Amino acid sequence: MKIALLGYGKMGKIIEKIALDRKHEIVLKIDYDNQQDLTIENLQKADVAIEFSTPGTVLSNIEQCFNAGVPIVVGTTGWHEQISEIKARYENSDKGFIYGTNFSVGVNIFFHINKVLAKLMNAHPYYDVQVEEIHHIQKLDSPSGTAITIAEGIIDNLDEKKQWVNILTDGTNPVDNNATAEDVLIESHRIDSVPGTHTVIYDSEVDTIEIKHTAHNRNGFALGAVLAAEWIKDKQGFYSVADMFDFS
Ligand SMILES: NC(=O)c1ccc[n+]([C@@H]2O[C@H](COP(=O)([O-])OP(=O)(O)OC[C@H]3O[C@@H](n4cnc5c(N)ncnc54)[C@H](O)[C@@H]3O)[C@@H](O)[C@H]2O)c1
Repeated sequence: MKIALLGYGKMGKIIEKIALDRKHEIVLKIDYDNQQDLTIENLQKADVAIEFSTPGTVLSNIEQCFNAGVPIVVGTTGWHEQISEIKARYENSDKGFIYGTNFSVGVNIFFHINKVLAKLMNAHPYYDVQVEEIHHIQKLDSPSGTAITIAEGIIDNLDEKKQWVNILTDGTNPVDNNATAEDVLIESHRIDSVPGTHTVIYDSEVDTIEIKHTAHNRNGFALGAVLAAEWIKDKQGFYSVADMFDFS
């Protein structure tokens, strides 16, 4: 399969290595300093594009892939508010799109467990729930896209919760918040070089239930993105990474 990499930072470089290991070919690499090479002609040399750039550049890169008719895997986070616009555009088109706030297989299992647990906790209202995420200090968005997906999984399944609120902390300041009973509180910590840790905490007066996912490195995200590229290559329409997994 011929792949165009849109964004050649930490993730783009690992995706390249994993794609080559899986016998794919990289035919185009776009980063900050060669954006002018993202032409329709260059893109059409690829069977699929994989986009891990920045929240400020992802939408124009998606637009260019749409115009070129090249299916796209989008891993960039921090553009959550535009997702319904992109969904409407792709849903009834003959072009393929897949988005994931987190492409790791382990995290997608975690997303599923989180939903099942939230449903179960409706019968136990004396627990309150909170989400914690820890990432490296270069991360541009907060909360992480993964934490938003976790919070949405809770809101969709735990009747009391209606929306999420986020608090960003560097890990040293005490966290003050005005979250109400209807809010899922997300605490976002930015600490050194942590690749990504997410914890869901149900706390009561007598005990605490926690589920936690810890990424040891970025390889799981990158492999998931390459698997998504193999999956979307001949598909049309809008998909999320959950569509790749069958947890029924
Ligand atoms: N979905 C997932 O599984 C997952 C996993 C890890 C990271 N991410 C997200 O992926 C994105 C990239 O993460 P990263 O760690 O590689 O960041 P990074 O900062 O290391 O890399 C981003 C790269 O994009 C480049 N860039 C800037 N403008 C560009 C443009 N117009 N076109 C193409 N590239 C451009 C930057 O120069 C940089 O090299 C972030 O939004 C991050 O949150 C998602």
